Amino acid sequence: MSTPVRVAVTGAAGQIGYALVFRIASGQMFGPDTPVHLQMLEITPALGALEGVAMELDDCAFPLLAGMTLTDDAEEAFEGTNVACLVGAKPRGPGMERADLLKDNGRIFTAQGRALAAAAADDLKVAVVGNPANTNALIAAANAEGVPTDRFTAMVRLDENRAKTQLARKAGVSVAEVTNLAVWGNHSPTMVPDVDNARIGGRPVTEVITDRGWLEGEYLTTVQQRGKAVIDARGASSAASAANALIDHVAAWCGGQPTPEGDWVSMAVPSDGSYGVPEGLVSGFPVTTDGAGAYRVVEGLELSPFAQEKLQATVAELEEERDAVAEML
Ligand code: NAD
Ligand code: LMR
Repeated sequence: MSTPVRVAVTGAAGQIGYALVFRIASGQMFGPDTPVHLQMLEITPALGALEGVAMELDDCAFPLLAGMTLTDDAEEAFEGTNVACLVGAKPRGPGMERADLLKDNGRIFTAQGRALAAAAADDLKVAVVGNPANTNALIAAANAEGVPTDRFTAMVRLDENRAKTQLARKAGVSVAEVTNLAVWGNHSPTMVPDVDNARIGGRPVTEVITDRGWLEGEYLTTVQQRGKAVIDARGASSAASAANALIDHVAAWCGGQPTPEGDWVSMAVPSDGSYGVPEGLVSGFPVTTDGAGAYRVVEGLELSPFAQEKLQATVAELEEERDAVAEML
């Protein structure tokens, strides 16, 4: 057995945490040969609930679970961390936008960025889920002095998965037929699930689904508003699907599941200026991953004038969010 991967999960006793940690401990994030040490961070009042989660993890007798840390101290939680899943944050309720969480949740990511810089391993990789995820990743990166900025990513994989299902359903094919689906921009209602470059059964989406009105209307809105639709239906924000998407995100990045040849996946990563997205903004892009810690933004894709206009709008929103938290950067 190899050395355990030290995986920090913040908000581990929350909804997403509860749907996530068992899957990590069972081997779904890093594969069946890699043990994990779970380093779980909670706020002090939730430590009792976290104890309960740890008891259940014990009761699963997972052979890959090499150890657990339970703490309300961020530096202790991030000690030697290889992969940090930053989930712990307030979720929005009915009638709120994710950006309404900016100031409250931003403070969490300032402190956690500093704690990561102080305590984590040199090969640290960070995946932010807590909303507004893109800007929280920007805040954490800005406060993690000495950690390369490209190690900070945010999750748009749930949006990719949602978009794939909508397209597969419309085309009447299995979701596995939908590939090369990038979600550009912000994890917010301005996100752009790309149909210009996605493929169904290897063919351009626009050849298989010729109803451009649907693609630019109902499809786009359904994907952009899916988080709200789940909140309205469940009375709580998505949890199992978010945990599932985080497994996908990390497994592709550094869990031994590289992007299949010719395909790409969606990750929000610090922009290098590609596609007109200002350098430094954490934006959804099509990326390829090697499953061992590297990712690359796919170059040379073309977007329709409709998608380009949408991309500008989502980038403008990311700039507004960045400006609203300027004092945390
Ligand atoms: P939740 O309220 O059920 O759980 C959040 C947990 O975080 C709680 O247990 C809370 O005690 C803990 N927490 C709060 N502050 C913390 C801190 N400073 N350090 C450590 N833990 C802390 O919420 P949830 O449903 O699990 O959602 C968590 C976040 O994920 C929310 O911001 C939500 O909006 C977001 N989310 C993002 C996506 C995405 O696709 N990016 C999808 C779903 C949810
Ligand atoms: C989601 O997309 O389901 C989450 O970001 C939760 C939310 O607030 O929509």
